[in-house]
Amino acid sequence: MTIIDETAESPAPDGSGDTGRPLLEVRDLHVEFHTRDGIAKAVNGVNYSVAAGETLAVLGESGSGKSVTAQAIMGILDMPPGRIPKGEILFRGQDMLKMSGEERRKIRGSKIAMIFQDALSSLNPVLSVGYQLSEMFRVHQGMSKKDAKVKAIELMDRVKIPAAGDRVNDYPHQFSGGMRQRIMIAMALALEPDLIIADEPTTALDVTVQAQVMDLLAELQREYNMGLILITHDLGVVADVADKIAVMYAGRIVERAPVHELYKRPAHPYTKGLLDSIPRLDQKGQELYAIKGLPPNLLRIPTGCAFNPRCPQAQDVCRTDVPPLHPVTERDGTELAGRGSACHFWKETIHG
Ligand SMILES: Nc1ncnc2c1ncn2[C@@H]1O[C@H](COP(=O)(O)OP(=O)(O)OP(=O)(O)O)[C@@H](O)[C@H]1O
Ligand SMILES: [Mg+2]
Repeated sequence: MTIIDETAESPAPDGSGDTGRPLLEVRDLHVEFHTRDGIAKAVNGVNYSVAAGETLAVLGESGSGKSVTAQAIMGILDMPPGRIPKGEILFRGQDMLKMSGEERRKIRGSKIAMIFQDALSSLNPVLSVGYQLSEMFRVHQGMSKKDAKVKAIELMDRVKIPAAGDRVNDYPHQFSGGMRQRIMIAMALALEPDLIIADEPTTALDVTVQAQVMDLLAELQREYNMGLILITHDLGVVADVADKIAVMYAGRIVERAPVHELYKRPAHPYTKGLLDSIPRLDQKGQELYAIKGLPPNLLRIPTGCAFNPRCPQAQDVCRTDVPPLHPVTERDGTELAGRGSACHFWKETIHG
């Protein structure tokens, strides 16, 4: 049986043929939470990587471990109750889990930045937006108050806040949700990080504003050649911006693929279910498909494939054996680059 070697170096996304190390590599990451009721296994062997200029979308239902993985990368997990019993998080080849607190903080401050869903609770309500942006430059780069303010206005311009110069002294609550999210993006960009992790950056916004903010993020990412990890449970959002997708279920990656291939030909029944539950304009009036059942309780993950109780294709082997991430191939055995499926019946799923 072939199992994907997740540690293999990936080709450069710019097509240059360079096979440099990815910017970030998560290897066999495990995270558990010690709770009163027992050990909740939130992340159970996640592998993914992202290169400079590349966007990885991480997808999955609520509770699948998307944010916990991101928190582990950022070094902001609550420990305790959280614990990382196993795994590596390599940033430019160096394991951040082995670094000192000081080294870690340096990377977190300037090399990896995070954008959260809820700007209102991430920004300080009693400080002006300009002050909060300026502070990034004053604290991290020792800039003078005056220079930092000029930079703050520049950044507000970059994220397309109209009349930035006039609004620099406004407070977070004086901005609309979409504008606040742009300010969050500005904060993340301030120190020109190599990698941005955006955790549901547009979920709280209405649909048209969502698209604008997502487009802006994608534009800036290209311009700065940053790596981007985009966490979402909305398949509709990622189609235009991501290069590749990792689908998570119960703390594992169940499928990974270049974005358009995943949409065209899913190789895991869970991905299939997610795709079938997207509303489509050409099927108006039809009842929307929903995956039956609920994600598992992480204190008692089902044996075998964690998805088996909800899977329309489940057989006996699915209830006993955990499926590894198989390479996905064409019918004739030609390997499909970057594709993998953790389903015993991936062939039947993709080729019918
Ligand atoms: N501090 C904590 N203590 C105990 N359990 C936690 C803690 N943080 C997260 N968890 C658990 O870890 C699991 C994974 O959570 P996570 O936030 O990663 O989900 P998610 O995939 O980001 O979901 P969502 O789409 O809802 O944001 C959840 O069951 C959650 O309850
Ligand atoms: Mg989350």
